[in-house]
Amino acid sequence: MPLQDFISTLDSLQSGATKAFGSAQDADALEAARIEFLGAKSGRVKEAQKGLGTVAKEDKPAAGKRFNEVKVAVEAAFEAAQARVSASPAKKPGEPLFDPTLPGKKFRIGKLHPVSQTIEELKEIMGRLGFTVADGPEIEDEYHNFEALNIPLEHPARSASDNFYLAVAGKTTGEPLLLRSQTSTVQIRVMEKTKPPVRIISLGRVYRPDEADMTHYPMFHQMEGLMIDRHVTMAHLKSVLRMFATSYLGQDVHIRFRPSFFPFTEPSVEADMRWGDRWMEFGGAGMVDPNVLAAVGYDPEEFSGFAFGLGVERLCMRRHDLKDIRDLYTNDVRFLQQF
Ligand code: PHE
Repeated sequence: MPLQDFISTLDSLQSGATKAFGSAQDADALEAARIEFLGAKSGRVKEAQKGLGTVAKEDKPAAGKRFNEVKVAVEAAFEAAQARVSASPAKKPGEPLFDPTLPGKKFRIGKLHPVSQTIEELKEIMGRLGFTVADGPEIEDEYHNFEALNIPLEHPARSASDNFYLAVAGKTTGEPLLLRSQTSTVQIRVMEKTKPPVRIISLGRVYRPDEADMTHYPMFHQMEGLMIDRHVTMAHLKSVLRMFATSYLGQDVHIRFRPSFFPFTEPSVEADMRWGDRWMEFGGAGMVDPNVLAAVGYDPEEFSGFAFGLGVERLCMRRHDLKDIRDLYTNDVRFLQQF
């Protein structure tokens, strides 16, 4: 074959392939074009390669060079078309891009867990009353969980059956560690680091080896509150709890104190709040015991303060009318989606 003819065959092959690949709208059309041009047995590139053998010997270098250029260009056109077709699903010419009659796609957006939502709300309310958020570790030593809180060694609250003591690998001596059983530990940690006045809340997990039932779970959350200053009295405690409860419930709420006992407060009370037509237990509270103040280096003659500890799940459950605390921790999406 004369060189001139061979070159013009290649030219029309290249322009034909570019056009066919460029206009292929879907995978089927592209595959048909691929077979026509790049088919292994009798594609047009293959045929052209056969033609190369019929070119005169002295024209071979020029013919071969051109053939390679065309082959590379055809393959590149195919690959570009393949990328384009697989990126956009088949669309027939003239088909509208957007069909407003089709049902919309629903996007599922994650949400905060109901307990986290409650925690955010409690922080917000207490923040308005001037309480800042403090944090403490969930793994505690006995000093912060008991001793500094005036809970002596022989106190039943320290027993192994009432706490999650930790067996730490390789640790056989020294003070045992435990998962904190109350957020009151954070009172101590804050007072150790700061001078009065103090006005903090701390929200977090606490752990007790309770059998799980409708109202108990071995892990739950508490909100601890602590206010220390000169001349702080029970009246301040009651006002703060009442303002807190009123904000949380959005209606005027009454607070009732019943005498109680905690080693770290004196006097100690159980606080109840009026919810609808009945009293609901709210949590423990009291005036911080002078021993506790002295243990962190505060002068009990100069400073006084109150502390309280509330169950977060209980507030969350009453707000949403939940009957079983376990529902909060089984991670059933059908349940969690409702909040
Ligand atoms: N820490 C107590 C509990 O877990 C609650 C409490 C906190 C009581 C602060 C008094 C003062 O039961």
